Amino acid sequence: MPDGARSMTALPEGVTRHGDALHIDLKVRTELLEKGGVLELKAFRLLLVRSRKRVRAFCATCPHKPKKLYRVHRVRKAAVPLFRCPKHDWTWDHKGRPRGKAKKKLPRARTELLGETLVVQLPENATAPPKKKKRKKNAER
Ligand code: FES
Repeated sequence: MPDGARSMTALPEGVTRHGDALHIDLKVRTELLEKGGVLELKAFRLLLVRSRKRVRAFCATCPHKPKKLYRVHRVRKAAVPLFRCPKHDWTWDHKGRPRGKAKKKLPRARTELLGETLVVQLPENATAPPKKKKRKKNAER
């Protein structure tokens, strides 16, 4: 099996990777056709949100402490899409605007609509794993 084909199996249906971009087939990912529809691509740290006129893509890495790579998640019980970082509860609306105590916008990823395919440019840290905490060495050992 070629390497490209192996990595393709991990992607959700209707999503393909082409270099530094994801191609999302809107005929398959129909949640992005309805206002308020959300597609979370956890492997790429992306949140896609459908508003009235367009689909926005946000980096799901919290802008509060971006080097720590805390992941922003959708608030499940909210009637309209809301996103929250679990670390310090910063919250954003469906346009990535800060709500409550959040002080920065949710970073955007570039998108382009080509027919029925949404092309999303992957952010720099899209696939980076979270950093591991350094263990403190015991001075008495
Ligand atoms: S690291 Fe996300 S809210 Fe503080």
